[in-house]
Amino acid sequence: MTQKEAQEVVVENMKKWQKIENGAIAICSSVLEKTDHPILRFVMETIIRDSQNHYNLQGMIVSSMTEKPMTIQPEDVMAVWDEIEKHNAMEKETVKLAQESLAALKDSKHLAAQKYLLEYLLIDEAKHDKMLENLEMIKNGLYPGN
Ligand SMILES: [Fe+2]
Ligand SMILES: [Fe+2]
Repeated sequence: MTQKEAQEVVVENMKKWQKIENGAIAICSSVLEKTDHPILRFVMETIIRDSQNHYNLQGMIVSSMTEKPMTIQPEDVMAVWDEIEKHNAMEKETVKLAQESLAALKDSKHLAAQKYLLEYLLIDEAKHDKMLENLEMIKNGLYPGN
């Protein structure tokens, strides 16, 4: 596949994906009208916010391949790395707090709500950690394609 063909595949996929994000927002909005449960409302509101975020990111990927080229270089990350590194240590600490809390609740009964929310938090914090790890790889010139 040529570079141009590869970009066309990505652009087409991002546009299809944006339609799915809009569908997810519509479904979650209709669920919101039917429930007062705080956890269900939290899940729907979170998916709506994430879907809006994803939609914008997909648009950013499209425009970076069709209108305005975009790159990220080791120097871009290096310029803010001291701050990121401090934050990185905190992200690792939050993952530990979530894991410890879940371990403490492992044998508890009647705490499914709390376990569910802690599980969500753990996944989200692990994601932040991974995002920063990948930035570190870019900084070190180890990221594929850089
Ligand atoms: Fe999404
Ligand atoms: Fe975080």
